[in-house]
Amino acid sequence: MDITILGIESSCDDTSAAVLRNNVLLSNVIASQAVHVKYGGVIPELASRAHQQNIIPVVDTALKEAGITADKLDAIAFTRGPGLLGSLLVGTSFAKGLSIAHNIPMVEVNHLQGHILSHFIDLPDRTLPHPDFPFLCLLVSGGHSQIVRVDSPLEMEIIGTTIDDAAGEAFDKCAKVMGLPYPGGPVIDRLAKEGDPKAFRFAKPHVDGYDYSFSGLKTSFLYTLRDEVAENPDFIEKNKADLCASLQATIVDILLDKLIRASKDTGIKDIAIAGGVSANSGLRAGIVETGRRRGWRTFLPEFKFTTDNAAMIAMSGYFRYKHGDIASLDLAPVARLEDL
Ligand code: KG4
Ligand code: ZN
Repeated sequence: MDITILGIESSCDDTSAAVLRNNVLLSNVIASQAVHVKYGGVIPELASRAHQQNIIPVVDTALKEAGITADKLDAIAFTRGPGLLGSLLVGTSFAKGLSIAHNIPMVEVNHLQGHILSHFIDLPDRTLPHPDFPFLCLLVSGGHSQIVRVDSPLEMEIIGTTIDDAAGEAFDKCAKVMGLPYPGGPVIDRLAKEGDPKAFRFAKPHVDGYDYSFSGLKTSFLYTLRDEVAENPDFIEKNKADLCASLQATIVDILLDKLIRASKDTGIKDIAIAGGVSANSGLRAGIVETGRRRGWRTFLPEFKFTTDNAAMIAMSGYFRYKHGDIASLDLAPVARLEDL
């Protein structure tokens, strides 16, 4: 029997709603919040207010585009966390209201598991490649950098994580000191295409196991700029492309190094990437090239599933609903992964 799920995502600065029938995407609507650009980062209080303004039209559009009314849904999946508490509260409360109004069960979703499970979505006119279990997923976003061993849609283990900054944060913070707009990741990606990835050398971390660290790289980047700008005030402007290319190449190297080690040790060769930074062209090329040499099957998400979206929340919700995981109406959102 078909299962139709509405997904709701509001963990950070994108308000999104999507409808899936089984694993097939019927609609995926995302309202991004331009209000943060002038501050160079997400302002939590402004994010919650924008979610409140966006959520009704976004859900309404997602249902209309899917050609369905709310009373025909089997379940409502919502992001319970991790994320900004005020933002999560908007999506969670909305899901509860809709659930009560139409007497439809709710399913809670872990945002990070959503990113990973986006690899199981198909499009109406096209099936997409799905990894086999177990697989390893490099989950890289603005808030997280993890290597996750995925044994089933419901069983995942984080085997490596960052001990300080996330990969996306490294992109965004280094972009900020170069005077580039927020979020810096996509801008660096674009500028890096014109630059020489070997022009500059930045520090690489030495961290045990499969864990990551990016704060040393950030400091080394900052010191390079400080020393060079002291001699030549035009340094950043003149070397922007080379700086971006070298920074991006270093981040990709750091990410791949631990992923290769994890694959060697576990013997797992189905390798996926997910999260905002998985849109990065250097990372995508690096994964494909490494996979070719090491006999991996590599899984790159469609661009529309890299950054935050509700399709991945509906996908994760589908697996949970089939497993009978219904959320209670008194459930509160949770900001930190450790508390989820
Ligand atoms: O997953 P996401 O949309 O939100 C979080 O849950 O954090 O990830 C956002 C992050 C930002 O740090 C952004 O700069 C980064 O993903 N990002 C990129 C690219 N596109 C987005 N980083 C590098 N290259 C890109 N093309
Ligand atoms: Zn995310």
